[in-house]
Amino acid sequence: MLRALTVLSLLFSKSPQPSGGLNITILQPDVPFVPHPHPLPGAASDSKQIIRQFAELDRSTKWKLVDKVQFEGDTYEPEGIVRIGNDRYFVSAGEYIVPTVKYNGTINGTDRTAGEGFAHMIIFDGKGKRIADASISQAKSLEYHNGGIDYDGTYIWATLSQYRPNTTGTLVRMRPDTLVPEPILSVADHQGGAVHDTKSGAVVTLNWGSRKTSIWNGHDKHLAPPKFTQPRAVVRNPSSFIDYQDCKFLGRYELYETRPVMLCSGVADLANTRIGGIAIVDMETMVPLHEVPVTLVSEHGAAMTKNPMDVAVVDGKMRLFFLPDERNSTLYVYEAV
Ligand SMILES: *[C@@H]1O[C@H](CO)[C@@H](O)[C@H](O)[C@H]1NC(C)=O
Ligand SMILES: *[C@@H]1O[C@H](CO)[C@@H](O)[C@H](O)[C@H]1NC(C)=O
Ligand SMILES: *[C@@H]1O[C@H](CO)[C@@H](O)[C@H](O)[C@H]1NC(C)=O
Ligand SMILES: *[C@@H]1O[C@H](CO)[C@@H](O)[C@H](O)[C@H]1NC(C)=O
Ligand SMILES: *[C@@H]1O[C@H](CO)[C@@H](O)[C@H](O)[C@H]1NC(C)=O
Repeated sequence: MLRALTVLSLLFSKSPQPSGGLNITILQPDVPFVPHPHPLPGAASDSKQIIRQFAELDRSTKWKLVDKVQFEGDTYEPEGIVRIGNDRYFVSAGEYIVPTVKYNGTINGTDRTAGEGFAHMIIFDGKGKRIADASISQAKSLEYHNGGIDYDGTYIWATLSQYRPNTTGTLVRMRPDTLVPEPILSVADHQGGAVHDTKSGAVVTLNWGSRKTSIWNGHDKHLAPPKFTQPRAVVRNPSSFIDYQDCKFLGRYELYETRPVMLCSGVADLANTRIGGIAIVDMETMVPLHEVPVTLVSEHGAAMTKNPMDVAVVDGKMRLFFLPDERNSTLYVYEAV
C-alpha cells in the first residue's frame, strides 16, 4: 500500500513540470501529432451507419482484408487503438520490464506480484511510420498498464492500472496533441479500458477481463489519495462469451431504443480454445445487443480481436482495424463481404 500511495501522490502531485509521467521520444519532429482541426472519432461520427451494418453480421459473415499496414518499431503489448482521421493511429501499449509472477494463492487480494514497466502511447501515421512514442507512467509506478482507449474528438480516455487483478487504477485523459495524462479519478480496482459517452458525459471503465463495468459521472471529483472515488454504479457483465479488450463509444440510436452503446472486441480462452468476437454492448447494463464470433488470425498466428480494435466508415462501408500482434505489429483492416 505504501508503494501504491507514493505512486498515486506522484501521479496527482501538482509538480511545476507539466509533463508528470511523460517521457516522450519524437521521431518525426516536423510532423504534428494530430492534424488541425482535430478530426472527429470514426466510431462516433459514423455510428448510425456502423450500427446498421454491424446488425447485418452473423456467424457466417465473410471478411475481406482490404488493407495491411506494418507499424514501425517496438509496439510492446498493444492494448488499445484510436484512428484519428485517415492519417493517424494512437496506440496504447504496455512495456513490461519485470514480469509479474503468480502467487501460490491470494495475497493482499490479488494473485501475482506487481512487476514493473511503462505505459506507452505511440503515434503512427497512415503508413505506419512512428511520429512519437511516449511513456505516460512514472518510472517505478505500480500503475503501468494502459488498457483499451477511446477518443471523443477532444480527449483520448485511458486507464493506468496495476498489471494484476483486484488492485488499483487511475482514469486519465489526454489531448492527442500533447499526450500529457490528466488524472481524473482513482479507482479501487484494476481498470482495463475506458469509454466516454459524449452525449451524457458519463465515462464507463471495464475491470480485469471486463467482468465488471464502473459507470462514472462526467463531473466526479478525484479525491486526494489514499481515497478512491466511488462509481455511480458497478454493473456485472452478464456475458461470459469473451472478455472485452478495446471499446469505442457509438452513440444512441433508435435501433437500440436510444440506449448508449459501444462497440467492443476481445477474446476468451476456454478449455484449450481461444475464441474471438465483437459486440455492440449496452453501456448501462453490459448486455450485448448484437455479437459475432471472429476466427481470423494474424500472419503470426494471433487471434485478430486479441488486442486493439477501432472502427470507421470508409466509402460507405464499415471497416474494422485490428492490431493483434505484440512487439512487431501489423494493422489489419477488414470489411464484411
Ligand atoms: C501485503 O500488504 C502489506 C500491508 O500493506 C505489505 O506490508 C506486504 O508487503 C504486502 N505483501 C505483498 C506480497 O505484497
Ligand atoms: C501451493 O500451496 C499448496 C497448498 O498450501 C502446496 O501444497 C503447494 O506445494 C504450494 N505450491 C508452491 C509452488 O509453493
Ligand atoms: C478478485 O476479487 C474477487 C471478489 O473479491 C474474487 O472473486 C476474485 O477471485 C479475485 N481475483 C483474484 C485473481 O484474486
Ligand atoms: C523513458 O521511457 C523509457 C521506456 O520507453 C525508459 O527506458 C526510460 O528509463 C524512461 N526514462 C525516464 C526518465 O523515466
Ligand atoms: C516483423 O514481422 C514481419 C512480418 O509480419 C517480418 O517481415 C519482419 O521481419 C518482422 N520484423 C522484425 C523486426 O522482427
